[in-house]
Amino acid sequence: MIQFLLNQTLITEEAIDPNMTVLNYLRQTQRRCGTKEGCATGDCGACTVTLGKVRQGKMQYETVNSCLTLMSSLNGTQLLTVEDLREGDALHSVQQAMVECHGSQCGFCTPGFVMSLFTLQKNSAGWDRHQAELALAGNLCRCTGYRPIMAAAEQACQTPQADRFSMQQQQVAQRLMALHSDAVQEIALAGHRCLLPKTLDQLATLYQAHPQATLLAGGTDLTLHITQRYRPIPLLIALAQVSELAECRRDGNRLTLGAGATLNAITPFMQQHLPPFAAILQRFASLQVRNQGTLGGNIANASPIGDCAPMLLALDAVLLLQCGQQQRTLPLADFFTGYRQTQLQPGEFIRAVVMEDVTASPNFAAWKVSKRLEDDISAVFAAFSLRMEDGVIAGARVAFGGMAAVPARALACEAALNGQPLTPQTLSQACRALAEDFQPLSDFRASADYRLQVAKNLLRRYFHQLSGELQITEVSRYVS
Ligand code: FAD
Ligand code: FES
Ligand code: FES
Repeated sequence: MIQFLLNQTLITEEAIDPNMTVLNYLRQTQRRCGTKEGCATGDCGACTVTLGKVRQGKMQYETVNSCLTLMSSLNGTQLLTVEDLREGDALHSVQQAMVECHGSQCGFCTPGFVMSLFTLQKNSAGWDRHQAELALAGNLCRCTGYRPIMAAAEQACQTPQADRFSMQQQQVAQRLMALHSDAVQEIALAGHRCLLPKTLDQLATLYQAHPQATLLAGGTDLTLHITQRYRPIPLLIALAQVSELAECRRDGNRLTLGAGATLNAITPFMQQHLPPFAAILQRFASLQVRNQGTLGGNIANASPIGDCAPMLLALDAVLLLQCGQQQRTLPLADFFTGYRQTQLQPGEFIRAVVMEDVTASPNFAAWKVSKRLEDDISAVFAAFSLRMEDGVIAGARVAFGGMAAVPARALACEAALNGQPLTPQTLSQACRALAEDFQPLSDFRASADYRLQVAKNLLRRYFHQLSGELQITEVSRYVS
């Protein structure tokens, strides 16, 4: 069974289809229709809800897209929807701000904006435009426009008032902690099951016993198979409760990122140890998706346009894989075997991503090129790491997403760089070599010619930056 608080009400569900999204559960089972379905693909934010989780004994609130969230993700959390904000006849201060600043017109997107604003207010110490932009980047409004909504955000965050949620925080945290149990939980209905292990050992044992199962991490990719392709998954193993899988740590120069860590959890860690990695993560989808989507899911889905893989390839990362009690390491460069194909064996999962020496890449840089700045998938993603010795390139690692069927290193380009000085001739040769490395596809995101040109231009940008001629940041407001 799973247990969660729907605002203050304890809900226990056992006979429930694990393929059901939280959006459908709210609208169809709980008859809470305030949460809207806009796109059902994680792109519009109309379905945004807030999940309260206990971290280090305290409540933390984050937004998720309920259309991408499967029921098992609710276990042990507090689910808040737009219906919960009002107290009697009084609007919550974020709702009042939306009214006073004229932030709502047709209103379809409004519940999502309100939940994003509510969560922003909970997490802010005051007004910060950049934080507000990050919080709202996953919410689309086509009629009112963003100026009045940003004005509402400013009003709501400038002098955040204690509300009943802040007053109840301690009591809610205690209620959620009391729900915790180390036993494997299960929900099932109509031949569909989901198992919820709590420890790495339980996960390893369960997956080895059920290698036909599908692992569910954040579900930001997997849920679309269910909702867009109408393919329910008979047996899921949910990773979200396995806290050991989400641990990130630094031992000496070695960085270990748990596969179950969400992209948003990784960001402050990487900001501390590898800031360019953290900066680009702010271009990854939206806050709602980053709150849910994991590093392991981003690698295991083997998408040719996944944003983390090119960076990790340029950083020479190694995967720690586990099957039962057996563990093995595999360079990420050997992991992808073809379009959406990997070296993972039945019953084997990604446990962590390891960078042996974070100081080995002092010149690491990464850039994402997409049609929109926010909440968009890459057309081309480039990551570079050049080590210089005595004025000569001693170790080049260049990797791209969006250029081939898998995220891949540019080996001919690297060969053209290695052993050469940082000169215009070296740059020209390396750019020419990129055409040997990649024959990209044309699709709705970009043409083949555009992709190759962008790849060359990003290499040029990197070169000029490295030689000190240019200081180009991703977009200045995104880089601290
Ligand atoms: P899930 O959906 O839970 O799983 C994905 C796959 O990985 C499944 O096959 C699952 O079985 C497998 N898996 C998960 N964890 C493991 C593990 N530890 N070991 C083995 N297998 C595992 N991606 C980008 O790279 N950049 C973007 O900008 C971006 N934007 C997006 C925007 C939207 C609106 C949406 C819906 C998706 C976007 N994505 C983007 C894709 C997706 O969000 C990411 O790939 C995310 O990291 C997937 O992680 P997850 O935890 O949600 O994976
Ligand atoms: Fe559009 Fe969920 S309905 S993000
Ligand atoms: Fe947002 Fe209309 S008020 S789409």
